[in-house]
Amino acid sequence: MARISLTGIKPTGSPHVGNYFGMYKQAIALSESYLGLYFVADYHALTTTPNPKDLQRDIYEVAAAWIALGLDPEKSAFFRQSDIPEIPECAWILACSTAKGLLNRAHAYKAAIDKNLEIDRDPDYGVNAGLYNYPVLMAADILLYNSDIVPVGADQRQHVEIARDIAETFNRSYGNIIKLPEAHIPEEVQVIPGIDGRKMSKSYNNIVPIFAPEKEIRKQIMRIVTDSKTPEEPKDPESCNVFQLFRFFASKERLEEVRQLYLQGGLGYGNLKQELFESLIAHFAEARQTFDTLMSDKAQLDAILKSGAEKVRAIATPNLKRMREAVGIDR
Ligand code: TRP
Repeated sequence: MARISLTGIKPTGSPHVGNYFGMYKQAIALSESYLGLYFVADYHALTTTPNPKDLQRDIYEVAAAWIALGLDPEKSAFFRQSDIPEIPECAWILACSTAKGLLNRAHAYKAAIDKNLEIDRDPDYGVNAGLYNYPVLMAADILLYNSDIVPVGADQRQHVEIARDIAETFNRSYGNIIKLPEAHIPEEVQVIPGIDGRKMSKSYNNIVPIFAPEKEIRKQIMRIVTDSKTPEEPKDPESCNVFQLFRFFASKERLEEVRQLYLQGGLGYGNLKQELFESLIAHFAEARQTFDTLMSDKAQLDAILKSGAEKVRAIATPNLKRMREAVGIDR
């Protein structure tokens, strides 16, 4: 049987350049040689209690984005986490093989606690049990299908390691039932800078969107933070946020040319921003068109998601059965 590459994407707004180069691109490439199981992690999104209407829209946007960016839903399976009833069932079984202390150490939970402690609040203030159990649900996502690799950004490494820990504990109690997954984290592009130079992230409000109207994309690019050097002054490409983003869209030759122009002095930030904008639009032209077409045809998206769910449930059902038998729920 084909080896499985699996990843989940939380529906929290339309995907940006950082999402694409940080993870989507690799995951889509992996679906050529692996069976790609990719899904919208809509249950995970609930831990931050989003507005229900926004959640609905974001779920479709994520689905449309994956197809638009090149995932072939015939060859792979693209689905919604919440269409798989085996997932919460699996999560419960796995929770009972999860040390509570392991969850205490999870980054997202720890960060919430530390923030409260800093201002002398009850450590668990505002923390729901969904946030606390987030890693267990994610372990179910990964382990239920006996996934081989999990393409994720570096920020998700700990979650994949927690899934491995849970699988090991389960296997120690019940025999070798669950496959241990590997995180697959692209080395060279671990951090895609946002317009302020920090890691591009929605929570920093520094993203360059892919599917927004051109005007909005241009506005964000023009806002990229630079120093105040004139076009004639020599510049350091390595520490320039415009150049660091341009890398992802330029041909090798053009990138080298621009690097030289920077070093010698002879190119202004404004000009490179304009070129970055044009290259980005050209790079994503086809994807942007497909995205709009899909977003105006939700029935087609629904059909893709439904067929994806059917495909993965065929894998999930026998695996869950094996787990149920192992723990003694089924004979
Ligand atoms: N936690 C991941 C994120 O925030 C999303 C996710 C949910 C996921 N389930 C997963 C990723 C399973 C990989 C595998 O990006």
